[in-house]
Formats: sequence, C-alpha cells, structure tokens
Amino acid sequence: MTESTTPQVPARPRSVWQATSPSIPVDEAVPARADIVVVGAGLAGLATAAMLARAGRSVAVLEAREVGAVATGNTTAKLSLLQGSVFSGIRSHAGEQALEAYVAANHAGQDWVRAELVGDPDALEQRPAVTYATTPQGVRGLEQEAEALAAVGLDVDVLEQGQDVGLPYPVARALRMRDQWQIHPLRLLAKLAADIRDRGGVVVTGCRVLGADVEDDGVVVKTSRGSILGDRVVVTSGSPVIDRAAFFARLKPSRSLVGAYRVPGEIPHGMYVSLDPEARSLRTARDAHGRELLVVGGSGFEVGRERDTDRLLGEIDQWTRAKFPGAERVTWWAAQDYRTLSRVPFAGAMPGSHERIHVATGFNKWGMTNAAAAALTICGDLLGQPVPWADALRAPHLNVRDGADFVTTNAGVAASAVQGIVRAVVGSGTIDEGDGHVVRDGLHPVAEAQVDGRVCRVSAICTHMHGILEWNRAEQSWDCPLHGSRFAPDGEVLEGPAVRDLKPAE
Ligand SMILES: Cc1cc2nc3c(=O)[nH]c(=O)nc-3n(C[C@H](O)[C@H](O)[C@H](O)COP(=O)(O)OP(=O)(O)OC[C@H]3O[C@@H](n4cnc5c(N)ncnc54)[C@H](O)[C@@H]3O)c2cc1C
Ligand code: FES
Repeated sequence: MTESTTPQVPARPRSVWQATSPSIPVDEAVPARADIVVVGAGLAGLATAAMLARAGRSVAVLEAREVGAVATGNTTAKLSLLQGSVFSGIRSHAGEQALEAYVAANHAGQDWVRAELVGDPDALEQRPAVTYATTPQGVRGLEQEAEALAAVGLDVDVLEQGQDVGLPYPVARALRMRDQWQIHPLRLLAKLAADIRDRGGVVVTGCRVLGADVEDDGVVVKTSRGSILGDRVVVTSGSPVIDRAAFFARLKPSRSLVGAYRVPGEIPHGMYVSLDPEARSLRTARDAHGRELLVVGGSGFEVGRERDTDRLLGEIDQWTRAKFPGAERVTWWAAQDYRTLSRVPFAGAMPGSHERIHVATGFNKWGMTNAAAAALTICGDLLGQPVPWADALRAPHLNVRDGADFVTTNAGVAASAVQGIVRAVVGSGTIDEGDGHVVRDGLHPVAEAQVDGRVCRVSAICTHMHGILEWNRAEQSWDCPLHGSRFAPDGEVLEGPAVRDLKPAE
C-alpha cells in the first residue's frame, strides 16, 4: 500500500441522523403495476407517496440506494420559515407574487411535517430561528431579507449589536423568528415509510430507475430490477433522473460539509444561519446516547469543482474550535441540493409527458418545508384538488438577469468539460491512499483512485452527458462539474442525474 500524504480525514461520512436512525423496513419485490410510481425515497418521495396512499391510491416507491440515503439523510433539518437569504432571493428573481405563494407553500409544508411528528420529542423540537451577520456584507444581506419578510407580512425580531442572540460570539445584527422547529429527518422518513406500507404501498430499495416510456395506458418505468407500469410517475430524485425538459441545465447543484461536535459547556439552543461570506449553519442534535451535540454546516462548493474538500472540512473544524473552545468533532458528512435560476422550487407536470410524469426539485437547501409543500402540490394535481399556491409558483419566472445567469452557467459547464480533458495527465503515476486523479490512456480519460489500499480505474467520463470528473478528496468520490452527478471510486453512481455506473477502464 502507498503511504498517504493527503491530510487525514478520520472517518467516512456518516450523518448524525444515520447514526441514530430507527430501522426502516422495506419491500423486496417490484410490483408489476401501481397507480403511482414514485422515484426516490427522500422526503419529497415519501411525503408524496404517503399522501397518495392515504387518499386510497396504490403507490410504489422505487429507491436506488436506501431510504434517506442522499439529501434527506444528510441535511441539517431545520423546519423553518426563516431561511437565510432565500426570501430576498426569490423576491428579486421572481417577484413578490411568487414570494407570497412560496410563503403559503412553506407554511403548509411546515404544518404538514409538524403534524406528522407531533408526540415524538426525539424527532420534533421547537426552537427560535436566527439569521445573523458579523460582517458589513452580511448586514446588507440581512437588510434585504428583513425587507422581503416585511413585504409578505412575516414577523421577526430585529436584534442589534449587543443584544443577546444566544451565541457565544458577537454579531452585528440578527433577525429572529420564534416558534420554529428542528427535526430528526430519518425518524420522519421511517414513520412515512411505515405508513405507506401499512396502507398496502411498497417501498423498494436498491432499485435504480433507468428511464420511462409514456404509453397510452400509462408510463412504463424501467429499473435495474425490471419494469413497472404506473398510471402516473412522480420523480423526486433531487435532480430528475427522468428528464424530458432539460431540468439538469437549469439546476445549480451546491454541496456543503457538516460536522457534529461535542462541546464543553452550554450549546446554543436556537437554529442559526449566518449571511457572512464564510456562511455557517448551527443547530443541536443528539448522539446515540442522548448527549447533545452542536451541528455546524457550511463551506458550500459547486459539485465537481472542488478537489480539496478535506481542506473545507478543516475550515469548519477550525471555525468551530475558535468559537467553541474545546469542541471535538464526533462525525461529519456532506450533501448537495439544487437551486433553480429563479430560486423558486418546481413541483408539477413535466413538459412533454402528457401530464403522466410529475417532478419535484429545486429546494435550494430548504427542502424540509419545500419537499412537503411539493408533495402537497403534486397530490393536489393528481387528486384534482389543486393547492392555491400552485399557479403562482409555476408561472415562468425567468427574468433577463436569470437568462444571463443561464448562459453563464452553461458556458461554465462547457468550459469545465474542456478543462477536465486538459487537466488529465498522461499515463498512470503513483497515487496516494485516499487520492484520485484523471489520467489519459491514449485518448481516453481514466479516473484512477486508491481507497483502502485498492486501486480502482474507471472511465472518467460522466455517464450523464460526458462531463470529465473531478476527485473529491474528503468524500473519496468522483464528482461531475457539469450537473452534479457523483460516483464511488469503483464507478457506482451515487447521486445526481446520471443513472448508469462508470465503465471499468480497459
Ligand atoms: C448540507 C445541507 C443542509 C440542509 N439543511 C436544510 C435545513 O436545515 N432545512 C431545510 O429545510 N432543508 C435543508 N436542506 C435541504 C433538504 O435537505 C433537501 O432539500 C431535501 O432533503 C431534498 O429532499 P428530496 O426528497 O428532494 O431529495 P433526496 O433526499 O436526495 O431524495 C432523492 C432520492 O432519490 C433517489 N434516487 C436518485 N436517483 C434515483 C434513481 N435513478 N432511481 C431511484 N431512486 C433514485 C436518491 O437515492 C435519494 O434517496 C439541506 C440540504 C443540504 C445539502
Ligand atoms: S452530471 Fe451531467 S454530465 Fe455529468
């Protein structure tokens, strides 16, 4: 085995929710048909399936990995209507009417999740939500957010420097919304999966959806474990894996790292988000022994464009130890979510699918409320009882600035593909444990990595649309800079719009 020269990352990513999840029983067999086939067992998928099962529909949830394996099992799970700078972003990109509809949807999503978890104190805790700034840039962001909140009549306390926000370090200004909630996302998914199965639905894991054909009598969904016929299909796979409308080109994937720390002394009680350039998100959680931990998220990066992710994790550690002396990391993880150019999530029929395929995406790191809201929206459509906010959220919002952003994003995507090929070094050199690089084997870019003493060589060309992959050192994965697909060192697809594994290198 080659000696490691990369900074040591102590443990493989595992979220505090995964470490304390109840077991989630699932089904073995893919049925031949169902009224509704749901793709993905995150919050959007299981909430949609549970609502439809309660309305008497037969549902089959098909999950490529495990329940909550991707964003929902690796979130920070603040169930809050105070959402960093999201409201001002929607107001400036999509307008006030869209923001009003967004608030209505998020209220409904929050109420729905709370009702699901009420009576489970390990899953649902009431907390104040605080957005704060310590820098002039952050304060400007806070002012815009306060204006957006006021425009839609949401009440917040404005706390000036010197007032107590509950943090052990000074802040320049803060907005506080009382009576918000933090949840245990896998306890929620466990409850939803059990309810779906109790009502005759199925939840099948290890079943990857590969594509779908719309036919006269329904949609034939092709999976790694055979086909299933659905009257309707709901795609809740993050970035849609069935995509007839090029959603992938309009979604920006953004990934963040999260650490959970044992902290001597008191841990801040609230849920905090900073709007500073070095943004941080804080909340509490409990380990398997019931001891309180501080969860710290941040260091967001564009998927596939950051190799030194171990450095980013180190930055979170350093920040946490500076603010909370004696803090000791017990676990860490990472996750990504997708934002639309207009900042407004999408929930509705997929263009070009004759209303047979519906899709929910673009939750922009606020999916605890938005995924439930999307489920309510799609169920309203499917059951013929449309929700009041649906039309305003689905109106075309792309303004001139976003059009330019779209062009820039996709130009950046194309440039990344070219840079990836240029970056590839010729031939195979030595490779350190935990490291990976793209080499050129003749004309073929090969992704070469050494993990646990095993060297893996697979094609470095993303199976979605041919992006050249970049190594993610902390997570030991191959990440695509084009639309955010990720692969294990042996080529297995982990997440994103890709549905096929990387080919082994010859
Ligand atoms: C770091 C971070 C922190 C966050 N913190 C918060 C927060 O505090 N509050 C908040 O409201 N939101 C937060 N979010 C956002 C929230 O976690 C997400 O919006 C939400 O979990 C998305 O749920 P989902 O069901 O759409 O996606 P997911 O949970 O990712 O579910 C999609 C599922 O589809 C499956 N899948 C993919 N491809 C296929 C296929 N081909 N076949 C079958 N299945 C497939 C995946 O394996 C996955 O299980 C955060 C996000 C991140 C990244
Ligand atoms: S995710 Fe689209 S090309 Fe890789």
